[in-house]
Amino acid sequence: MSIFVDEKKRIFKLDSKNASYVISVVDKEGFVGQAYYGAKIADADVAYMLKTADYPWTPERYNRERVPFMDYFAFEYAGYGSGDYRPSCVEIRDEHGATAVNPVYKSFKLHKGKPEFEGGAAKAGMPAVFASEDECQTLELILEDAAASVELSLYYTVFDELDAIIKSVCIRNTGKKDFFVTKLMSSSMTLENEPSLDIISLPGAWARERRIQRQKAMYGSFKAGSNRGISSNQSSPFMAVAESTATQREGNVWGFSLIYSGNHEIEAFLNANDSLRVTMGIGSDGFSWKLSGGEFFASPEAALVYSGEGLGGMSRTYHDLYRGHIIRSKYKFMDRPVLLNSWEAAYFDFDTEKLLGIAREAAARKVELFVLDDGWFGKRNSDDCSLGDWYANEEKMPGGLERLGEEVHKLGMKFGVWFEPEMVNPDSDLYRAHPDWALHVDGRTISESRHQLVLDYSRKEVRDFIYGMISSLVRSAGIDYIKWDMNRNLTEVWSAALPADRQGEVFHRYVLGVYDIMNRLVTDFPDLLFENCSSGGARFDAGMLYYSPQIWCSDDTDAVERLAVQEGTALVFPLSTMGAHVSVCPNHVTARSTPFETRAMVALAGTFGYELDMTKLSDADKNAVPQQIAAYHRFGSLMREGDYYRLQSYRENNLWDSWMVVAKDKKTALVTVVQVMTQPSRKSRRLRFEGLDSEKQYSIEVVQLDKDTPLHQGAEADRDEFAGRTFSGSTLMNAGIMVHRTTGDFQGTMYCLTAK
Ligand code: DGJ
Repeated sequence: MSIFVDEKKRIFKLDSKNASYVISVVDKEGFVGQAYYGAKIADADVAYMLKTADYPWTPERYNRERVPFMDYFAFEYAGYGSGDYRPSCVEIRDEHGATAVNPVYKSFKLHKGKPEFEGGAAKAGMPAVFASEDECQTLELILEDAAASVELSLYYTVFDELDAIIKSVCIRNTGKKDFFVTKLMSSSMTLENEPSLDIISLPGAWARERRIQRQKAMYGSFKAGSNRGISSNQSSPFMAVAESTATQREGNVWGFSLIYSGNHEIEAFLNANDSLRVTMGIGSDGFSWKLSGGEFFASPEAALVYSGEGLGGMSRTYHDLYRGHIIRSKYKFMDRPVLLNSWEAAYFDFDTEKLLGIAREAAARKVELFVLDDGWFGKRNSDDCSLGDWYANEEKMPGGLERLGEEVHKLGMKFGVWFEPEMVNPDSDLYRAHPDWALHVDGRTISESRHQLVLDYSRKEVRDFIYGMISSLVRSAGIDYIKWDMNRNLTEVWSAALPADRQGEVFHRYVLGVYDIMNRLVTDFPDLLFENCSSGGARFDAGMLYYSPQIWCSDDTDAVERLAVQEGTALVFPLSTMGAHVSVCPNHVTARSTPFETRAMVALAGTFGYELDMTKLSDADKNAVPQQIAAYHRFGSLMREGDYYRLQSYRENNLWDSWMVVAKDKKTALVTVVQVMTQPSRKSRRLRFEGLDSEKQYSIEVVQLDKDTPLHQGAEADRDEFAGRTFSGSTLMNAGIMVHRTTGDFQGTMYCLTAK
């Protein structure tokens, strides 16, 4: 049983395979405390962990020191304005302007599986983890603040086999008068800074997304978040706390990932008493939601993961959780078609004949999906017009998408199209007809970004109109794949359709609108392969994975930069979700040149494709393409379903990068090594593998991605060394191999391990 309840002592113990989470209610007032979260423990009664002082410590017996108690107690879900000065979980403003709220225990319910609660994320139109009844159990803790007419349901779903807990919160107005919810976190966690803790976050920028940042927890607050309306390039909705000695392989790590695609905040606050509170939820900057008597509001879900096996263990749990329980697409475990995308191939400079030339060459090289990116609609020849006018530019494309789609299909390829449905250019028929459909504040200039404005997706008529245009094209042009882009942050966030006291809801209603239209699309077209994108990877979050099994990772396709972007992304997200393409050199973003095979090896760690004009490749590179595609299909299921291990990080060592994926049955594994910077006077380097079966014997094949291009010197030496031999898993994991030194920057090697 995964949830144990001692009703008398008011203890709730949530056990997964290797972890325990204990909640204890203390005092006659019913303060709900978080007594423990970490490696599995046998005892449930660990309420002593909550003590804040040696004297009678709760207000029931020592009300004289109520405020210090409030300020130190490890609240499961902290209120506001009653003496707890750490980051709160819930804040309201009532009709008198009063803000204090202090929720205490009322009751609990246990549920089989993970029901779709009335106050849960799924019913509110948000992405939600799904699972069968025998995989998990859900605890609903009900807290109340009777004076404020607030009732909260705290949901906790615990998996038997996965060390993950899914949390969310519903707030109800149990009174007769309206109040405003101004903050509602999805999760709060208190961890003791003993031994000392590090905070890991994923900040970034356009083309430099999700860079792993690790820093010591210091007194005070560290806050990550987005107030841009999207999860953003600048801050992924994720944070981990790790013991400072924790590594990829070892040590205690706690992960916090928000399943949401809009404004978010994650705050880690270390107080003077050395306890670290980590809160996570919808961004409260500018947020307020009006609740009348009897109404409720649901938070997004947060996925918490505990790992006693370092950061690697945390990543593997997130990969299993998101692959198995958030991605709904039928493609999630299927071989994805290898695509060629027209963006870096042609940008806006194309017509149907040019596209077909590229498509023909791609088809001849075994590419399976041709994707037409930006520039095909309205009168678009640059980024300054036509967003919103979702009909083909007949001057460039006589016969429209229908003709191009037909020709692409005749080549035996699937046909994909780019849309940016949330946007409108001032220079567009749509904007001229409906200027009030863009988010704006009457009387103010609307701030343009990339010449574009944001449509008010909180309005159903706007969504219906856009959806009508897109869905009819999907039907008429036989579109098999959609790339959904989103290229700016929100400004002047005000909706012409809502009253003044509901304008604080627009950011969240916008996100709900995006979810609504994506849901309609994937429901109406279940065979459609759907890829999300946002200025590269600005909306790479677990929420989007509910709709699309893959997301474009970054506009930076440079193989070296991608090492860091993909390392950061794979800290939380499965490799099967990372859009990764081979492009030409010098790279369009960094101007760096790397070998064609290395570019392919890096892109093989994600959903593989090309971002180039295949007619312009050298013959040698053209010949390599079908072999690279064959490698993608050969290793596809391993990459999609296997366990990921990060072996080396170029980000940390400035020399080389390495990762491996091991099949669940441990019979095969693929290791990739990229020597980024060569250095003289270096011997061969030791590389220890992970995740193998120590009892099994493995052969090691050095994968030659292109039979006509000789292996680089080091890879050739490796091949000779391993030929005809086998090694036990224990040897490979403990002694490891010596990767032969090689000269030349950016040299990649792939090793395929097969158990005999
Ligand atoms: C940003 C995306 O990340 C690119 O891949 C491309 O689709 C452009 N937008 C097109 O405008």
